[in-house]
Amino acid sequence: MLELHLVDDITTAEAIAQAEASCTPHPWSAAMYAESISGQDQVFAYNSASAQTIGYAVILQVLDEIQLQNIFISKPWQRQGYGRKLLQLLMELAAKQNCSRMLLEVRESNLAARELYLSCGFKETGLRKQYYRSDSGPRENAILMEASL
Ligand SMILES: CC(C)(COP(=O)(O)OP(=O)(O)OC[C@H]1O[C@@H](n2cnc3c(N)ncnc32)[C@H](O)[C@@H]1OP(=O)(O)O)[C@@H](O)C(=O)NCCC(=O)NCCS
Repeated sequence: MLELHLVDDITTAEAIAQAEASCTPHPWSAAMYAESISGQDQVFAYNSASAQTIGYAVILQVLDEIQLQNIFISKPWQRQGYGRKLLQLLMELAAKQNCSRMLLEVRESNLAARELYLSCGFKETGLRKQYYRSDSGPRENAILMEASL
């Protein structure tokens, strides 16, 4: 049984950032996670039955909309259906919180995430040119996506 656990302890921010750094070239910093945990976002750990954390997600509710701020599955657990399951759980949770839409932005080059979102009913609704900064190289476009809940 896989479960979502709300993260409310700011001291876990470093561990979340480290976990993400091992599975994406553009991770959030520990400071960003700390700000999320202590602010308006809901930060979730996604745990297996044995309480092993296999991924995390960050959402922000604004009125009847949910913004998916971030989501990742740790490398050893990827491509086993956990990302889709986690996203489905978040969409169910958002519907229970009386939200009608989930919105997100994703790097144009992030084909794995874009495929995941499309497979969960998201549609591409727009493009923000050169939205993401890059440490090296040019800025990258963001694809805007949304799903009805
Ligand atoms: C995106 C991510 C969360 C997907 O998690 P996952 O558990 O590996 O995904 P799943 O196994 O549930 O796959 C669901 C669907 O996503 C798509 N997908 C996942 N990984 C993919 C890949 N490497 N290449 C292409 N499509 C991929 C497929 O459509 C897949 O469906 P299928 O297995 O029936 O073909 C994971 O790759 C990840 O953590 N990436 C790094 C962080 C990140 O980019 N987050 C998104 C920020 S916007």
